[in-house]
Order: sequence, then C-alpha cells, then structure tokens
Amino acid sequence: MRTHYCGDVRARQVGETVELTGWVRRRRDHGGVIFLDLRDRTGIVQVVYDPDTPASFAVADRVRNEYVLHVQGRVRPRPEGTVNPDMKTGEVEVLGSSLNVLNTAETPPFTLDEYSDAGEDVRLRYRYIDLRRPEMQERLHLRARAVSHVRRFLEAEGFWDIETPTLTKSTPEGARDYLVPSRTHPGEFFALPQSPQLFKQLLMISAFDRYYQIARCYRDEDLRADRQPEFTQIDIEASFVDEQDVMDWGERLVRSLFAEVVGVDLPDFPVLSHAEALRRFGTDAPDLRNPLELVDIADLVRDAAFQVFSGPANDPGGRVVALKGPTAATRLSRRELDDYVGFVGRYGAKGLAYIKVNDRAAGMDGLQSPILKHLDEATVTAVLDRVDAATGDIVFFGADSAKVVNDAMGAFRIELGRALDLGEDRWAPLWVTEFPLFEPGRETLAPAHHPFTQPACSVEELLADPRPASARAYDFVLNGVEVGGGSIRIHDPAMQRAVFDVLNIGQEAETKFGFLLDALSLGCPPHGGIALGLDRLVMMMAGTDNIRDVIAFPKTQSASCLLTSAPSAVDEHQLRDLHLRIR
Ligand code: AMO
Ligand code: AMP
Repeated sequence: MRTHYCGDVRARQVGETVELTGWVRRRRDHGGVIFLDLRDRTGIVQVVYDPDTPASFAVADRVRNEYVLHVQGRVRPRPEGTVNPDMKTGEVEVLGSSLNVLNTAETPPFTLDEYSDAGEDVRLRYRYIDLRRPEMQERLHLRARAVSHVRRFLEAEGFWDIETPTLTKSTPEGARDYLVPSRTHPGEFFALPQSPQLFKQLLMISAFDRYYQIARCYRDEDLRADRQPEFTQIDIEASFVDEQDVMDWGERLVRSLFAEVVGVDLPDFPVLSHAEALRRFGTDAPDLRNPLELVDIADLVRDAAFQVFSGPANDPGGRVVALKGPTAATRLSRRELDDYVGFVGRYGAKGLAYIKVNDRAAGMDGLQSPILKHLDEATVTAVLDRVDAATGDIVFFGADSAKVVNDAMGAFRIELGRALDLGEDRWAPLWVTEFPLFEPGRETLAPAHHPFTQPACSVEELLADPRPASARAYDFVLNGVEVGGGSIRIHDPAMQRAVFDVLNIGQEAETKFGFLLDALSLGCPPHGGIALGLDRLVMMMAGTDNIRDVIAFPKTQSASCLLTSAPSAVDEHQLRDLHLRIR
C-alpha cells in the first residue's frame, strides 16, 4: 500500500512519486490550496492538494483530523521561506495526485497536540489515541528496544528464555495475591504469580543452569507512581554462583542497556551495606544525587535536659540525627519551615527541631532556635561542629524510634535537597547489600524479602537467635528508585525448614511449600538470581517519573482499566460455574 513511511520522505526523493498511508494530524485550507499533515509512527509529512486535481481536492476538502488516508503524490522541495527545520521532512512536501480515505474518524475526545488539557482519565479511556502521540510512540519503541537488548545480552551470556506458569500457587513477595477461581475444583483458587520465584528455583533444580524470562507479575498492593498491579520483571536465575556473579551480570546488563539504548554511560556502582544506607540516608534505596546526609548525634545529647533528644538517645531502639541544610537560613521562608513540620509528621515524626546559624562566630548569640533554651552551649557547639555548620545554614533534628527517624528524616533529606537545589545532574546507581533476613512482624518475625533467601549464617546460629541474621541479598537502586532485587537462595532443605520454623509456618510450610522442600532434597545446586523491574528501568531511561507512561495499557491508581472497564461484574451463570456467590 505504501512506498515510504511519512517520516522517511526526504530531499533525495524529490521528483519521485510516493505512496503514503497515515492519519491526518491537521488540515489547513490556504485559500485554494489544502495542506494535510499526514502522520504515522515515523513522523509527519506535509501533503498538498490544489484545484488542478479536482477529484482529490474535493476529497481533501472533506478530510478531518485522525482520518486514515492513502495518498499518492510527487515529492517536491518546499517553496523558499516555508522550509521547516524542526521537522525531519521539513525541506519537502508531497504534491498529492490521488487521495483515498481508508477510514473516517469522529472528532477525537482530545487533539494530540493538546492532550495535557484532557486529563489522564480521558487519555486512559481513549488510550489508543493517546498512544498515537509521537512522545508515547517513542516511549514504547524505547521499551521494545530495551527488551530486545536484554534478550540479546542474556542470550549471549548463555541464559535460556523459559516460560513459567501464570495460573499457579501463591508466591510470597509481600503483597496480596490476585486469585483465579477454579471451575474444575470447586472452592479452590489459582494465584497469579507475584514473581516466578519458585519456578525459577525449580528450573535450577531441573539443571537448566541459566534461565531468564521477561515475566509478567501481579501484586495486589497500594499503588504509587512507580507501581502497577501487573508489571514486568527481567527475571534471572543461575546455578553455581555467588552474590558477586549475579551482581556482575546485573551491572553489566544495566550498563549496556543504558549505553546502547539511550547512549548513557552510567558511572561506577558503589556498594553500600543496608546498615550504612540507613545510617547515612535513612532509607535502603537512597538517592545519591542528593549530597545531604543524616549525622548521628545521640552520643552528644544523652545527658541533655531536652527530653525530646535525650529520651531517644538513651533508648536502644531510638535514634537522634542532625541534617544540615547548607545556606537554608537565607533561602527558606518561615512558612516553608513550618510546612516541613507537617511534612515529617506524615512519616510519624512528632516535630522538626532546628537551629538557624545566623553567625557561627558569635557563639550562642549567633544562633536562633526554640530548642536553645533546653541545651547547654557545650552540647550545641559539639553538635554544630559535628555537622560542620557554617553561617547561613540551618541544622534540622529528628529524634524518635530509629524507624520514625529514618522514614521522616530520610524523606525530608530529599525534600530539603530539592528546596535547596542540591540535586546533582547525573545518574546515581548503587548496590545495597547485607540486608537483615527478617523484620519484626505482627506476631513473629517476617521475611524482609522472601523466605527463600540464604541466610549468611549456619542453621544452628539461625535457630539460636534469628533476629540478627543477615541475608545474602542485594538490591539495585538507581536515582533513589529500587529497580532490582535478588539473592542467593537456600538450597539445603534443613536450612529452608529452619527458616520456615523461625517464621512460624513450619506446619503450613509442608502443605504450601512441600513441593519445594521435596525438590531441595532431590539434588538442588547452589543458586541465586535477581529480578529487575523492566517498567521502572524503562521509565527512568525515558526520563519520566510515571510508570504509566511506559506501559501501553496501564491501570489507574485504583487498579482499574478505564479503556475496557475492567474489572467488571460477571454473569450469574459464570459465577455458578465457578461455584461462587457474591456476598
Ligand atoms: P522484588 O519483589 O524486589 O523481587 O521485585 C523485583 C523488582 O520488580 C519491580 N517491582 C515492581 N514494578 C512495578 N510495579 C510493582 N508493583 C512492582 N513490584 C516490584 C521492582 C523490584 O525491584 N522474586 C524476587 C526477585 C529475586 O529474588 O530474584 C522479586 O520479585 O523494580
Ligand atoms: P518546644 O516547643 O520548646 O518544646 O521545642 C520543641 C521543638 O522540638 C519544636 O521545634 C518541635 O518541632 C521539635 N520536636 C518535637 N519533637 C521532636 C522530635 N521527635 N524530633 C525532632 N524535633 C522535635
């Protein structure tokens, strides 16, 4: 039907007759001459109809936005003064000789140029129109190129693409399951996988040695800008490897992906222990583009009369930190400072004490703060010295349980960095390692990640005291976003049982994970792997902070599809077939 894509018509085709297909982006009537901007996935070309071809001129006159056309014409240079250097095809135009309307279109709910006025709900309802926008086409093309690169990279490293079931049993990754009722087994349900975790381990036990999959995962959890209920992982597993092997693959894969697909040379990937990440940044996914750091001061305020500080400073579960905002005294208004109290409050902090350093040389007289009356000069001096506070700075304080301080001051660190324009314009990748194996759960301990992660200790040590156990796990973080995570897995059934025992699911484990325990006892190689969030990677490569921008048909924040109206009610007889009744 066509000889060229619209965006590929160039000066070298001048004089040639071309056939094009595409959508009408715009029609302009310049008194006797009709200009049509014809668009396809490669770009836009201008097609001109004049009254010398009366039949096609008449058709062109009736054409409207988003009509689908088949056009024939001769390429000619644009007249002097009408060349458009912003367009790939801006030196030429096509003088149309025939025009065939392949399909008409009603007035679209929004024009592609003015999509942003439409609101995301309308864009999602008419996603196929939104996706016609060049920006969306580019993002999904970027995603396709990324997937293609990932496949080539992993296949060259000897990984085989093996599919795993999506009608399966619950795989615990910490979210709720999406359940699928079984018709043939009344009252029983499949779960959609939260990840292929158990199957990729079984594939190692099956001797495949190196596996990968571009795997769809399903998690029923609270959604955020970088979360979707169904999303895609680059899922990797290998046998006879240690952490370093897996991290090397992860790093080389991400590095080559950025280099090949977006021309970005990522800097070195530093390795931070989980403890260090929390200590310096209050989070296990720190954004290292922000130079601010939390500084512990509990040892300096233990004897202070100020209970707000000395309380947590003397509590083994407490934490007291200072966070210096360089030049903040001159740049932040009183109003902003007040608003920050509300900001940290959202993370559970009861306040945000601060000291304004108006003149560091003037001792206590040079400082301004409601908390000075509670602190003696030696303590204040020691605190200011520790953070190296200078005239013009504000030093902020967080004092509470370690968790509240980390959450609140970790988030405030980002907020403050933004307010003071401290973000460095660079890419900041890193690995976080040495995670704790468990975290406090409601009644017993809970797995910090999933319960198949290899502890860094022996079975005996684990059973003697599981709380300090460290996991052989690693996360990949980019610009403060957790992009990937993985671990070396338990391959010894005794260790797997011990972990289930600690989690208090000993009995339940036999019914839930008996198949895994069997498999571990039938020749399981040591193995480990990682999963990288494809959507998050592509989101960052595309320079957007909304995961929906890189998914063709995403779900809303409330996990519904506005295009198809899913989820939706089903027929009574469908429910009956599935042995279900709605309560
Ligand atoms: P984890 O749960 O850390 O590990 O998931 C791996 C990566 O998947 C991405 N991700 C998401 N992306 C979009 N929306 C979501 N709701 C979502 N949830 C997770 C993140 C995350 O880093 N089986 C283990 C991996 C392993 O141990 O090998 C797992 O799933 O980028
Ligand atoms: P005062 O009003 O004299 O009691 O001073 C209390 C100051 O400490 C206020 O600025 C509060 O915002 C701040 N504050 C209260 N609780 C905390 C806390 N847990 N961490 C940090 N600052 C706090």
